[in-house]
Amino acid sequence: MKPQVIVVGSFVQDLTWNCANFPQAGETIIGTFSTGPGGKGSNQAVAAGRAGAATLFIGAVGKDTFAGGARAFYKAEKIGARFIEKPAHATGTAAILVSESGQNEIVVALGANAHLSKADLPAKLFAGAQVVVAQLESNLAATAHALKSARAAGATAVLNPAPMRADFNPAILKHADILIPNETEFTALVNLLPITGIKDFTESQLSALGDDDIHALARTFGPRVVIVTLGKRGCLVSQESGYTFIASHKVKAIDTTGAGDAFVGGFTAGLVKFKGDFLAAARFGTVVAALSVTKRGTAPAMPHAREIAAFLKKK
Ligand code: RIB
Ligand code: NA
Repeated sequence: MKPQVIVVGSFVQDLTWNCANFPQAGETIIGTFSTGPGGKGSNQAVAAGRAGAATLFIGAVGKDTFAGGARAFYKAEKIGARFIEKPAHATGTAAILVSESGQNEIVVALGANAHLSKADLPAKLFAGAQVVVAQLESNLAATAHALKSARAAGATAVLNPAPMRADFNPAILKHADILIPNETEFTALVNLLPITGIKDFTESQLSALGDDDIHALARTFGPRVVIVTLGKRGCLVSQESGYTFIASHKVKAIDTTGAGDAFVGGFTAGLVKFKGDFLAAARFGTVVAALSVTKRGTAPAMPHAREIAAFLKKK
């Protein structure tokens, strides 16, 4: 089946330690360990695929055990994947700490992801796609190229500017139709973009802002739709004609790692399902994100279409 959603981004092996509290500098603590497929791009592809969209993930991996695991995972999931092998580089890895209260801290080594290139993304790959999604966890030039190619092919280009990085170039924003920043990324964008005239905006200032002000700032970013994800509060969908706030669903959170990816993947599947209606898509993404935090892990925690349907039926 031709993919409706193409995700160009990172595959990362998640190495996760659960602990009571995060260790302090110089401290050693004892925790428990688990590992599984992760990476923002791949998590989003799995969320979209499980939610029901015909999905293709494109990303770079090394020539190692983790790459073998990635291929096996996609085969078992029956989600399309095009793994571009970079034999000189390791598959990406992430050290993730999850505390008892459900918070997380992550260090990601991009490895092969940093070496995805424009040549790995020929224009014909994008033909017929409805939505193309990218993040900032891969090579940035290849990422900008993917969004450009998406548009040239008539697809909607979605950018999740995660994780925000020191070498981020705001020029990429002009290639995105829809931008989905979280609070950290939103704050960074406000400080980076000269148009706001603001320089030392903080996340705590953001949390004190009213929705009107968040919308006004989002309007200066460029993309025609900006969806600001506001953690467990919900998200704000900002477009030229105004904004809509969508509240999140109350669930028992076990592990919020990858919740942002669940939202983005669910949103893109929703864009296909609801034929470009991005409010309906954002509501759908909100459900996918809520269900994802009730399970441990990132990609393995993404809900299947039947779980989403069951949740919506109970509402
Ligand atoms: O967004 C969560 C993801 O970020 C994890 O799966 C980890 O791989 C990091 O890249
Ligand atoms: Na989870």
